[in-house]
Amino acid sequence: MTRKATVLPAASTALSRRFLRRAQQDARHFVRQFMHQSAYRAGLALSLFAGASSLALAAQPPSQPAAPDLLLGAAWYPEQWPEEVWEHDLALMEAAHIHLVRIGEFAWSRMEPREGDWQWGWLDHAIALAARHHMKVLLGTPSAAPPAWLTQAYPDTLRVSNAGVRDEHGNRQQFSFVSARYRALTHDLAERMAVRYGYNPTVVGWQIDNELAEPSFDPEAHKAFHAWLEKKYGTIQNLNQKWWTSYWSQTYSDFGQIPVHDADENPALLLNWKQFVTETWVSYVRNQAAPIRQHALPSQFITTNTMGWFDGFDGYTLHQSLDLVGWDDYETEWTDNAARHDLARGYKMKNFWVTETDPGFVNWRPNNLAHDKGEVRALAWQAVGHGADAVEYWQWRAALNGQEQYHGVIAGADGNPAPIYAEIQQIGAEFEKAAPALRETTPHAQVALLHDMPSRWAISFQKQVEGFDPVKALTAFYAPLRHMAGTVDVISPHQNLAPYTLIVAPGLNVLPQEVADHLLAWVRQGGHLVLGPRSGMKDADNALDPHLQPGPLAAALGAHVSQFYGLVQPVPLSLGQAQGSADGTVHGTGTRWAETLVPTDPATRKEGMYGPSNGWLDGAPVAVSRQVGKGEITYLSTIPDPATLETYLKTQVQNAHALSPFASLPADVEACVRRGKGHDVLVLINHARTPVTFTLPESTAAADLLTPGAPISGPVTLPGYGVRVLRLTGSHA
Ligand code: GAL
Repeated sequence: MTRKATVLPAASTALSRRFLRRAQQDARHFVRQFMHQSAYRAGLALSLFAGASSLALAAQPPSQPAAPDLLLGAAWYPEQWPEEVWEHDLALMEAAHIHLVRIGEFAWSRMEPREGDWQWGWLDHAIALAARHHMKVLLGTPSAAPPAWLTQAYPDTLRVSNAGVRDEHGNRQQFSFVSARYRALTHDLAERMAVRYGYNPTVVGWQIDNELAEPSFDPEAHKAFHAWLEKKYGTIQNLNQKWWTSYWSQTYSDFGQIPVHDADENPALLLNWKQFVTETWVSYVRNQAAPIRQHALPSQFITTNTMGWFDGFDGYTLHQSLDLVGWDDYETEWTDNAARHDLARGYKMKNFWVTETDPGFVNWRPNNLAHDKGEVRALAWQAVGHGADAVEYWQWRAALNGQEQYHGVIAGADGNPAPIYAEIQQIGAEFEKAAPALRETTPHAQVALLHDMPSRWAISFQKQVEGFDPVKALTAFYAPLRHMAGTVDVISPHQNLAPYTLIVAPGLNVLPQEVADHLLAWVRQGGHLVLGPRSGMKDADNALDPHLQPGPLAAALGAHVSQFYGLVQPVPLSLGQAQGSADGTVHGTGTRWAETLVPTDPATRKEGMYGPSNGWLDGAPVAVSRQVGKGEITYLSTIPDPATLETYLKTQVQNAHALSPFASLPADVEACVRRGKGHDVLVLINHARTPVTFTLPESTAAADLLTPGAPISGPVTLPGYGVRVLRLTGSHA
């Protein structure tokens, strides 16, 4: 193939009404902001504005076209390349219908090569050039990569590991998230950036830092943790009592005595440490968000890029301080990937951005295998189907040196299109076509999966059997629910439960009274709550609840767990109704965990039965259910094998009137529905290598958005990794 760029015509030049309205609001905001600056700040803003605006205005005539609502993007690192090649890169991106670049998130040493020596010219130029190529910019604050002069001058800003070792320069993320000095430096940096680019209409949003990850165990962190505990518990006696510290002589007489570790400690301490880390990341993010909010246009959103199921902090808490969810998608298995997208959407119950995904392969796994041809496109459409309004590839062009030389790219080391370029270009062209129909559409679910970070942490601290991974426990339930119910929201138990008819909570291990009350109020109104094994065992301090599982829900369930058993080998059970089986029941197995349930109320129904295994479980019910108000609570005491779980959940989904019209499509075909005001959009994806033919249920497809005029009734054939995007009339979510 000839690796040469073909520059296609630019995107449409029509300004959308929405964009105009936003631009007018932004202009008003800027004038207001500007008038309210202090004399010093106004002077600074004026000088920066004067310098940068001439560039921005040159690049942004009033007729600058609106980027489509559905954006294809790439991580671009202009600081790594001579300015002469930028034009070439941007032209190549534009030809691939890329309308978004993320820049700046590791460029501190280029912005400030020596302390106080601020260099903005290159970034002004890069943003202006991007605008000329009809791109929007997601601007990153580069706090994940402090420059060497900073590390050298302020070694106290360096992160200390759990083992007490200070980081060194050479990698990234070597800062302490709690360091007051680092916060002062990054506040100043964010403020300078916001004053300079906060009014720039090319900049649509801000990414704070990059993949917040490792906490620090430095002396400042010790002090901060102790102060945080004192604020939370008030007195050391209160802490001692809640933590049960008479155990192993852990009793403290002073907050300063409490160890600061993330392993091998009292479970109460470990849970509090995670919550402290969460709040510290929140204040770390707010420290940069505050000056950005002060100076930037209201239309510029603030995000950070999170990492799927990463459990270093509570994403539900963090996202309360952010405007938009951005997540870095490097998952390879499509059902797990679906769950991660739904997790991202659930943080704010809004559409989200995929801030990074690989264009083919990564470099950091033990074996970095390439996606099949066509799979990258299928995954891009999967993201959109689940609510992504932007998909950005990491990265645009191969860096000639650095730690990631083998990573997948869109343009190779020679600057010309890599083989994946044509596929990216196809995605870009398709995004442009489908964007108008997808505008203001989002997935809607009747079924939710509860994902609770304190519960996940508590189980991870004490797994009991090494095979019990709390995320795998969640996804074991997610897969059949997704298949049966179509859209599934992955939410925290604190969120609004009203939209759902069925909520499944596998492993809701930490269950404080107020969360139980919130769930119960929803059940009484007619909801069906299915609790999975290990639920309702602990209180908010990670102490055992003396009411036995499911703790504060045991009375409503009319049953409790008398004993739990970690499993390595599956145990036999029968559960649910099966057509064609001799006794009408499904014979399967329970995996990873099993519990003996003891009904305490005559109205509690037993479901299924364990077969012979360890003697303790033999003959015990697998699940129990009880009606509560207009609704029902079920407790399922194991994770059944996939087929049994699917049959069981199908009944629950049907009873909750949540069965998707697409539930009978072939197993590797995913149907994602985004609901809009007057229409729905259906994204159909064949995740398999081989073609598949099926019939859509009573198709009400009105138009094929990618191939206008293609037949929209009768059997549908999707090639391997094939995608169809259909506009539907009416509601099919
Ligand atoms: C992400 C990171 C990027 C890049 C990418 C490679 O975790 O945010 O900067 O390193 O991985 O896959």
